[in-house]
Amino acid sequence: MLMDRQSGDRAGTLLLLFLAALILPEQAIAAKPMPRATSETKILQDSIVEEINKNPVSGWKAVMSPRFSNYTVDQFKHILGVKKLPHNALSDVPMKTYTKSLNLPKEFDGRTQWSHCSTIGRILDQGHCGSCWAFGAVESLSDRFCIHFGINVSLSVNDLLTCCGFMCGDGCDGGYPIFAWRYFVQNGVVTEECDPYFDQIGCAHPGCEPSYPTPLCKKHCQVKNQVWDEQKHFGVNAYRINSDPHDIMAEVFENGPVEVSFTVFEDFAHYKSESTSTSQLLANQWNRDWGDDGYFKILRGTNECGIEEDVVAGLPSTKNLIRKFAAIDVDVAASA
Ligand SMILES: *[C@@H]1O[C@H](CO)[C@@H](O)[C@H](O)[C@H]1NC(C)=O
Ligand SMILES: *[C@@H]1O[C@H](CO)[C@@H](O)[C@H](O)[C@H]1NC(C)=O
Repeated sequence: MLMDRQSGDRAGTLLLLFLAALILPEQAIAAKPMPRATSETKILQDSIVEEINKNPVSGWKAVMSPRFSNYTVDQFKHILGVKKLPHNALSDVPMKTYTKSLNLPKEFDGRTQWSHCSTIGRILDQGHCGSCWAFGAVESLSDRFCIHFGINVSLSVNDLLTCCGFMCGDGCDGGYPIFAWRYFVQNGVVTEECDPYFDQIGCAHPGCEPSYPTPLCKKHCQVKNQVWDEQKHFGVNAYRINSDPHDIMAEVFENGPVEVSFTVFEDFAHYKSESTSTSQLLANQWNRDWGDDGYFKILRGTNECGIEEDVVAGLPSTKNLIRKFAAIDVDVAASA
């Protein structure tokens, strides 16, 4: 998928959040066709690694990534959990654009720009659940709470994944990023501490091969004395960003990381690192043993793999925060 690139002429770097869409094995770029993909075919192939690494224009390095060493093609597809929406379903979603006169920096890295935000630059692990649609949204919203209101807060993927229901799609079997952002507006999302991600132990536990069923929505904080409704953090709005690199960069610069999705080919499972300077930096949630310490880069401005088509985000709301800050003030006053 990263083949046939022109050499990158811009060195600017953006921190975006990532999630993955459909895998299309028959369109893979590997010169040697894969064995007929069956549910049992392994996703990692020596022939793909060899083909990419010996190609001088591939622009990136491939390895047999330990993260996917035992994954079949079907298992890999399963964790790419973005469902495609019919096009008319998006017609009522507002589309953001930015004026061309807005001056953007040549180089930009969200991790240094917002280094006071502990959630930015974190790499998580979605485990064996097709929940990337939920991770991308929740991570982006958490970052935006810090960028806009100066608070570190880890929000709960589990709340969104298990409680959004049909509106968001199908839980661990994939969902719709834009409806995740609508859930933040309508329902809010509690903290990670209140409702932790169910699959913290990875695949060492029984029942998670080849995948894990979506857990039930509990609406109950795991921390004693925490009240579910009081832990909710809301969004103000849910919007798309125009698929022009200037608009996407402006949105990240002004408001923080966004959620993107794109089409994944099987060579992506082998991604190790970029060998040329290019493009935008994206955080994945396949842990740090995949890719470049959990990150990857993708060429900007050419709609590589459809990445600039599906960019969504929303702004954080002060709803519920006011009361929390008021409560903190009271505590401070009481202990003073
Ligand atoms: C992959 O499977 C082999 C054999 O079943 C096992 O020994 C190995 O630990 C597994 N590797 C991972 C990363 O799970
Ligand atoms: C967030 O947490 C980090 C690490 O604990 C800390 O250095 C930083 O000051 C915190 N930022 C805010 C805005 O509280």
